[in-house]
Amino acid sequence: MSIEIMRFICATILLFNVLYLLSEAEPVEDKRALLDFIDNIYHSRNLNWDEATSVCSGWTGITCNSDNSRVIAVRLPAIGLKGRIPMNTLGRLSELQILSLRSNGISGPFPPDLLNLGNLTGLFLQLNHLEGPLPLDFSVWKNLTLLNLSDNEFNGSIPLSISNLTHLTSLNLANNWLSGDIPDLDIPSMKLLNLSNNNLTGVIPQSLLRFPSSSFSGNNVSQENSLSPVMSPSPAIEPKHHTLRFSESAILGITVGGCAVVFTVISLLLIFTYKKEGEDDRKTTGNKKPGKQERSSKNMVSGNQDANSRLTFFEGCALAFDLEDLLRASAEVLGKGTFGTTYKAALEDATVVAVKRLKEVFVGRKDFERQMETVGNIRHENVAPLRAYYYSKDEKLIVYDYFDQGSLSSLLHANRGEKRVPLDWEIRLQIATGAARGIAYIHSQSGGKFVHGDIKASNIFLNSQQYGCVSDLGLAILMNPISPPVMRVAGYRAPEVTNTKKVSQASDVYSFGVVLLELLTGKSPVHISRGEEVTHLVRWVNSVVREEWTGEVFDAELLIYPNIEEEMVSLLQIGLSCVARMPEERPRMVDVVSMVEDIRNMNRGSSPSLETRSLGSTPTFTPKVDDIGSSSLHI
Ligand SMILES: *[C@@H]1O[C@H](CO)[C@@H](O)[C@H](O)[C@H]1NC(C)=O
Ligand SMILES: *[C@@H]1O[C@H](CO)[C@@H](O)[C@H](O)[C@H]1NC(C)=O
Ligand SMILES: *[C@@H]1O[C@H](CO)[C@@H](O)[C@H](O)[C@H]1NC(C)=O
Ligand SMILES: *[C@@H]1O[C@H](CO)[C@@H](O)[C@H](O)[C@H]1NC(C)=O
Ligand SMILES: *[C@@H]1O[C@H](CO)[C@@H](O)[C@H](O)[C@H]1NC(C)=O
Ligand SMILES: *[C@@H]1O[C@H](CO)[C@@H](O)[C@H](O)[C@H]1NC(C)=O
Ligand SMILES: *[C@@H]1O[C@H](CO)[C@@H](O)[C@H](O)[C@H]1NC(C)=O
Ligand SMILES: *[C@@H]1O[C@H](CO)[C@@H](O)[C@H](O)[C@H]1NC(C)=O
Repeated sequence: MSIEIMRFICATILLFNVLYLLSEAEPVEDKRALLDFIDNIYHSRNLNWDEATSVCSGWTGITCNSDNSRVIAVRLPAIGLKGRIPMNTLGRLSELQILSLRSNGISGPFPPDLLNLGNLTGLFLQLNHLEGPLPLDFSVWKNLTLLNLSDNEFNGSIPLSISNLTHLTSLNLANNWLSGDIPDLDIPSMKLLNLSNNNLTGVIPQSLLRFPSSSFSGNNVSQENSLSPVMSPSPAIEPKHHTLRFSESAILGITVGGCAVVFTVISLLLIFTYKKEGEDDRKTTGNKKPGKQERSSKNMVSGNQDANSRLTFFEGCALAFDLEDLLRASAEVLGKGTFGTTYKAALEDATVVAVKRLKEVFVGRKDFERQMETVGNIRHENVAPLRAYYYSKDEKLIVYDYFDQGSLSSLLHANRGEKRVPLDWEIRLQIATGAARGIAYIHSQSGGKFVHGDIKASNIFLNSQQYGCVSDLGLAILMNPISPPVMRVAGYRAPEVTNTKKVSQASDVYSFGVVLLELLTGKSPVHISRGEEVTHLVRWVNSVVREEWTGEVFDAELLIYPNIEEEMVSLLQIGLSCVARMPEERPRMVDVVSMVEDIRNMNRGSSPSLETRSLGSTPTFTPKVDDIGSSSLHI
């Protein structure tokens, strides 16, 4: 009997082990290769490549395939690599599709290891100190579509074997020391070519004349039957820059690694060609999403930068990009907020982040960095993680994850009227619960003193579980407190903040209360009704409730869901208690969390059965209104 039990226990343990191993599956050999690589090359930025963790679980710059059986992308731009790529390391990642080691200090000849990577589709080695000839036989990379070797010190001639790369769409060999004739690279798929600033001579082949003259500038080459060289200065005269350069016309470009997204070659190409078309040659567009409002925003970030400014990443962040990438990404304005403009920055590899460009930061570098460190270390499933920041005299940037469903504000208010997808009650309740938990967690930081300072619907997003997730915390204390009151923001501002200009945890609670009312009513915190009349949501809700018309308060969109009235009224009570006029009358955020959580628990307890529900006709709101009318709520 006891042996049976022992057997059973052993079998169970074995089963769990197997399941555990399966769930933690990782490419052990690829991991070894990566560790051999990083252990044998100098790098100034610390990576979170911890042998004890799975290589697919968020190692900086690493992307695995969908079943976590192989590493398929390595992106390590600007992590301060120096010296040669160690032999027999990266070459073992035989399924690698994307390799980006750009903007580092890699030297030596073209790494022979990379010739083993037959599945590469994108190779980015620009802005390093690689020297000597290019590999003779490019045909090992049959699937290569993007090749960027610009800004190195390669010399010798351009190998004709590049013309074997029939999938190539983009080739950049600019700013090297390449010499000799330009070979006839007749690749129909090629959309982008840059051979500028080399030491090339001779005549441009007929097949390449479709590219603009700036593709060849800075060489001593001529077009057929033309005597004038395409462009003047010989690179031997012009000094070469191998440091990061920030041109005014730069388009913001971002490369981000990891983040557990597997990118297909197709999406990569789409984004890439789309970006390029937007960038320089709108006429040749036509095939891809012409209506989309993506702006290749020039000057999103000013070109100036001081020497010791760089992007600072937080530990454990799986993103990897540098400021130059930020400057070149294609950017779309997501919104102009209290503290600055937020952009959606996308790039060639389809990864997207949100970049906020702060205006009117009035604290110095030290204070800024200290606050960023505090914020950056706040990790909670209902708080949008701060990924990186950048501080220089002219420019302060912060980088967040991008939430593709948009903010609560757009979920609630966008497309009202026409093709609107209603935000259902379930999600609204989850948003309220999540955001409340996030704010309560924020308030527990810094010894229970941390203040969010800017809670509003446009700073609340949906996390992967479709719960609320708060963003933009802790910025208020960095900014000029005398900023002009924006009407939209004013609606969230607690009465005492308007006078004292000081935010507090109690004022956060007030703002959150406004968000709850917004969730319930579907109305903006300050809106113009009937012509000029400005209506404050809080005042309006209070007056409606006082008049015992509670039913009228709720968003018409919610009326289609059956049996949610009690829950709505409960949430309304919580919202109203949060927007109490006197700060000391408002509940604390932890209490708000348990009240919001109780909405579901209580209702489960009280009316669990379907029968009761189907029996109930349209319930009336009146009994509850009495509770609301009295300002003291039991908690
Ligand atoms: C590339 O991928 C194919 C199929 O996915 C695989 O068989 C091959 O071994 C890989 N490696 C190289 C170097 O081609
Ligand atoms: C090239 O890509 C195709 C699919 O896009 C794949 O089937 C093939 O194995 C790849 N070839 C090599 C040499 O990796
Ligand atoms: C390329 O540069 C190396 C030194 O870096 C030099 O020895 C070699 O002769 C050069 N080759 C050509 C073709 O200029
Ligand atoms: C690649 O290009 C070289 C030089 O043009 C040629 O000799 C070779 O046959 C080509 N290889 C393939 C596989 O097409
Ligand atoms: C290649 O690298 C250079 C230098 O960083 C950059 O200007 C260029 O946009 C990159 N991409 C392509 C497709 O040329
Ligand atoms: C090629 O690169 C140079 C410098 O890197 C740039 O000035 C030029 O505009 C580029 N041309 C094309 C067609 O991308
Ligand atoms: C450019 O090439 C021509 C011959 O192809 C040569 O006469 C001329 O000196 C070269 N100019 C420079 C600046 O190297
Ligand atoms: C550029 O090419 C010319 C002629 O081929 C050669 O004399 C000169 O040394 C080359 N310059 C460099 C820097 O390679």
